[in-house]
Amino acid sequence: MSKIMIVYWSGTGNTEAMAQAIADGVNAAGQTAECCSVDEADATAVLACDKIAFGCPAMGAEVLEEDSFEPFFAGLESQLSGKKVALFGSYGWGDGEWMRNWAERTRADGAELLDDGLIQNGEADVTACQAYGKSLAGF
Ligand SMILES: Cc1cc2nc3c(=O)[nH]c(=O)nc-3n(C[C@H](O)[C@H](O)[C@H](O)COP(=O)(O)O)c2cc1C
Repeated sequence: MSKIMIVYWSGTGNTEAMAQAIADGVNAAGQTAECCSVDEADATAVLACDKIAFGCPAMGAEVLEEDSFEPFFAGLESQLSGKKVALFGSYGWGDGEWMRNWAERTRADGAELLDDGLIQNGEADVTACQAYGKSLAGF
């Protein structure tokens, strides 16, 4: 069974709810996902997993959250080549530009990306997140 790690940053809880629902979808598909906030994540343990899901909302001006998430993600990028990666996050008034840039960046790192990531406006759509989790289990 492959090991799946879900690492997220969330300011007001929307991306955190997405992370939990994605984990539920993985579990419903018969696999096990570990879900943790980026502030508790251990880079070595994350890289030891077969698949990694990263979650971060659109922040700043269409960028990743800059104090915790961006440095953590940047620190792993040189080792993402060949990894199966899923990206997700919540956004507000934009059009998903942050995710398009993040997906392009992650593909340039050599990772194999699940779809083009999953974005949701505001509150988590639990059903869609669970479906994404099931896709991640079968990825
Ligand atoms: C400081 C700040 C910057 C933001 N920048 C953007 C942005 O560039 N584009 C966008 O679509 N939403 C932006 N948002 C909205 C958040 O992405 C949105 O509220 C999201 O649901 C927050 O997710 P969270 O609950 O996981 O923190 C911003 C919110 C904050 C607080």
